[in-house]
Amino acid sequence: MRTRLDCLVTSALRQGSAVPAFTCYDFTTALAVVGAAEESGRGVILLVAPKTAATPNGLRLISALRGLADAASVPVSVQLDHASDTRVMSDAVAAGADAVLADGSSLPYEDNIALVCAARELLGPDVVLEAELGGLAGDEDRAFSAGQPADEAGVSVAGLTDSAQVEDFVARTGAQLLAVAVGNVHGRYKGEPQLRWDVLQDIAVRTHIPLVLHGASGIPAEELVKAASMNVGKVNFNTELRTGVLTTLQEQLPAHRADGENLQALLGHWNASAADFAAGTLATLSR
Ligand code: 13P
Repeated sequence: MRTRLDCLVTSALRQGSAVPAFTCYDFTTALAVVGAAEESGRGVILLVAPKTAATPNGLRLISALRGLADAASVPVSVQLDHASDTRVMSDAVAAGADAVLADGSSLPYEDNIALVCAARELLGPDVVLEAELGGLAGDEDRAFSAGQPADEAGVSVAGLTDSAQVEDFVARTGAQLLAVAVGNVHGRYKGEPQLRWDVLQDIAVRTHIPLVLHGASGIPAEELVKAASMNVGKVNFNTELRTGVLTTLQEQLPAHRADGENLQALLGHWNASAADFAAGTLATLSR
């Protein structure tokens, strides 16, 4: 059943857990994620990357994900991730997304607020808005080592969330969820992730809206289980899911080509890899 993202996250937090959100570039992965959620009896969030949503096929994918969410036996939300282009936001919502991350984190503070307010004005009161304060290193769609200089990876980095700005930012944007930068990165970490739990704690006492941890791939399970106790109700995964699927496909491809170009069976392995990852993550976050 399709469920408002803020309701899904708030009700998980009330039970002491967080909801995983998975980037889906395709329908096979989304089927696997929703299947794993149904198996576990827990809700899940399907994320669509802005580069996906910027294409006509991407908008059709959003419509298909909405149908999948409507028919699921557990709560499912469809969210446009990391959008900074208001046209992509309105197209994605028209196609069926019911939540948007209006991401002005690479902009100056006042411009970040203005982007979220413009998104609210454009999308109306029913679309759930996440906003981001502070910026993450890394590319959302292509993994790179977090040790690589940001300009080499084509990204700019705003740095850790300034907790002193949190109350003002939340009040002025009206955001319903807040994505934070506390040492998390998109893509691969160089060495062990060094999350700043002190910064997260400081943010958590300054706002009551649920917090969102992006860049969860590579953060050990023992760390992730602590998140909900600091009001992190949504945890975003992409790279690890892709790595698992691509490794599986690489291993399975030769045998399936030899077996009469057996795409159907290969898709079964794709599904199993994504479902295993989603199931493990659902179990970790509800520990
Ligand atoms: P990772 O690719 O590091 O898991 O980050 C995913 C993410 O934050 C999507 O918004």
